Amino acid sequence: MVAEGGAQDASFVAAARCAPRARKEHHMAQRVQGTEDLFGGYMRAWQHMQDVARDLFGAYGFDMVETPAIEQVDTFVHGIGESTDVVRKEMFRIVSGALFENLLEQGSEAGLKPKQRLAMRPEGTAGVVRAAVENNMVPQGAAPAKLWYAEAMFRGERPQKGRLRQFHQVGVEWLGAADPAADAECIIMLMEYYKRLGFDPSRLRLSINSMGDAACRPAYREKVRQFILDHADEMCEDCLERAEINPLRSFDCKNDHCREVMRDAPLAKDNLCDDCAEHYAQVKRYLDAAGVSYVEDPTLVRGLDYYTRTVFEVEAVDGGVGAIGGGGRYDGLMELEGGKPTPGIGFAVGFERIALALAAQGGSLETPQPGCVYVAGTSADEREAVFSATLALRQAGVRTEADYQGRSLKSQFKQADKLGARVCVVIGPDEVAANAVTLRDMETHEQTQVPVEALVPAVSARLAR
Ligand code: HAM
Repeated sequence: MVAEGGAQDASFVAAARCAPRARKEHHMAQRVQGTEDLFGGYMRAWQHMQDVARDLFGAYGFDMVETPAIEQVDTFVHGIGESTDVVRKEMFRIVSGALFENLLEQGSEAGLKPKQRLAMRPEGTAGVVRAAVENNMVPQGAAPAKLWYAEAMFRGERPQKGRLRQFHQVGVEWLGAADPAADAECIIMLMEYYKRLGFDPSRLRLSINSMGDAACRPAYREKVRQFILDHADEMCEDCLERAEINPLRSFDCKNDHCREVMRDAPLAKDNLCDDCAEHYAQVKRYLDAAGVSYVEDPTLVRGLDYYTRTVFEVEAVDGGVGAIGGGGRYDGLMELEGGKPTPGIGFAVGFERIALALAAQGGSLETPQPGCVYVAGTSADEREAVFSATLALRQAGVRTEADYQGRSLKSQFKQADKLGARVCVVIGPDEVAANAVTLRDMETHEQTQVPVEALVPAVSARLAR
């Protein structure tokens, strides 16, 4: 805005007159597009999702795990698949500061060692499986490892409603169980999770499919590739590319016409080997026995390459945000990450989409702010007595607030109301002289004096009422 030499042009003067000074001089820090700050009720909603998960998944025998937010690129390339959009287009790649300089100079990452090629995790499964291999969590013959996580994930997608670049998932990974009962239990637990979060189960759509395994999928893939090539003149450029690298993704093409054409393509369920067909049938029998409703969607292929056999996805019918969760079996993934052949299954749900979908159903994940006790002093002379009373209550585990801004008693009561305090401890010169405090019930405004020694039990008794 300031022209060279310091002269100000007319438009600058006009702008300066109506704009606050702050606009000219302050750099207003902004969050990255497609990221969100979690605080207040939204933060409590995220914590609530974790609390419900801890209770429910705990009952199914899952323990919490946390893996690093950064992994070597190869962990994702091997696990999620080189040809997936997640790996090709959406992964946030990072290098440390000094290497970044080199990279800029050389203009290529060719000189980087695999250890130096890092990425922010776009999903949780590959990292958890990498951790299971590295820490030998599923030794031969041992019980399965059952792990759950609540973590931020990072995908460089175009931000829109329910699609963020940093989002949060609650997920589970069950490593070492090949039994179709594990697939069914995962799905049953997932549907119970939505119910406990407040969803109306009749307004959720669970879709399932089987994608076959190493024995039958290659031949099926080839059939789909051939189908796409046979219909090349009707398909988009992306699908023609997919035919060679990942033909099954064409079932999910964003182009309506391609999806229309793909309706006649060979379906996985008609191309399963006997073992996969039996596994799928058994999963459905278990789901039926548990009374879980589902729709079979033979075009459900998911966007990650590690899946084998069972895959599933959940949508809120009136949510308008796409899938609120998904998962499946990945019997080959442990080997892809360098471990012994070990079956696995899991799912993940997206916090932000769940919050949106639940709101669309008229529900909410938010839990009320916990109530508190407020300690009010009538003047600065009582500051020390207020300080001690506040400390005593907090040490007894009571959520306690006090004034730190020298407000009047009236504004302290207002503040106490705002914070949802049920009881106020009031301390004035009389109380200090009598070594006592006054307890004020914030609803009835009834006041009682109690000796200082009786503060904690008297407040606790009132809160328990
Ligand atoms: P996913 O289907 O890619 O699966 O993601 C799971 C859920 O994360 C989605 O259903 C959605 O709710 C949420 N989500 C995904 N991308 C975004 C985004 N950009 N913004 C907001 N929410 C998003 C997985 O990640 C697999 N790791 C699940 C799994 C675990 N499979 C086996 N084990």
